[in-house]
Amino acid sequence: MTSLPSTEGRDYSDTYDPDADFDRHYTIATGRRIATWVEPGDTVLELGCGTGLMSAEIMAASAPGRWVGLDRSAAFLERARARELPAATFVTADLDDLATVGESFDHVLATNVLHELADPLEFLRRAAARLGDGGRVHVSLQNPLSIHRVCAVELGLIDSLVEVSDRGRQWGTRGLWTVEDLTGLARDAGLDVIAREGVMLKPLPNHLMEQLPEQVVEGFIAAARHYPDACAMNYLVLGRG
Ligand SMILES: C[S@@+](CC[C@H](N)C(=O)[O-])C[C@H]1O[C@@H](n2cnc3c(N)ncnc32)[C@H](O)[C@@H]1O
Repeated sequence: MTSLPSTEGRDYSDTYDPDADFDRHYTIATGRRIATWVEPGDTVLELGCGTGLMSAEIMAASAPGRWVGLDRSAAFLERARARELPAATFVTADLDDLATVGESFDHVLATNVLHELADPLEFLRRAAARLGDGGRVHVSLQNPLSIHRVCAVELGLIDSLVEVSDRGRQWGTRGLWTVEDLTGLARDAGLDVIAREGVMLKPLPNHLMEQLPEQVVEGFIAAARHYPDACAMNYLVLGRG
């Protein structure tokens, strides 16, 4: 392991670009799935919205009535606002303090963010408290059982499937959770799993995936439905019953 400084708990917008990083594929693929749940006029709270890449993806496919995006990074939010998305408000906030949002929403999004928070359970409880009747929490998170991590263990590059990689540490990852771990966390927060999908089969590390033609990456995104357990990300739709 190298000794890159961890960004745990800190704004990393000077070193990480969500629109350019390979993570953009997860954002877009997950956004497409979430969009199928959003009815015209629905209200959406997006926690850890970054530059608004997911907001834009979902709004391109559906017509929410109100969208509130929260992030701690003023630099990311400036880029989100520059997208000039209809019905969207982007607010600087720490996700450890959801008290800043008083209203209820049809959908609360927390994609690819739980792993950066000090207390994911408390965060999920607060997210659940923001749900209106029949509302849904949409959560996605890296899957420690992803094929590329299994290969990395086999090659001796990491010691265990749940080891936080150097890249992960560089951008604030505090831990990795399996889908069972996430399900348990949701239950402890008073939420049931309504649906579960995998996001993208990813056999290779990011720098090698980036060398593949877009069409091949799209194929790995499409094939995810056949192998949810082996995908790069888990996506869960949560609700109260
Ligand atoms: C990996 S990015 C994911 C962005 C987006 N949700 C997606 O799926 O593409 C995590 C985002 O959460 C934000 N974030 C992490 N911890 C935070 C906290 N405690 N308060 C507010 N924002 C936070 C980061 O600034 C970043 O924009």
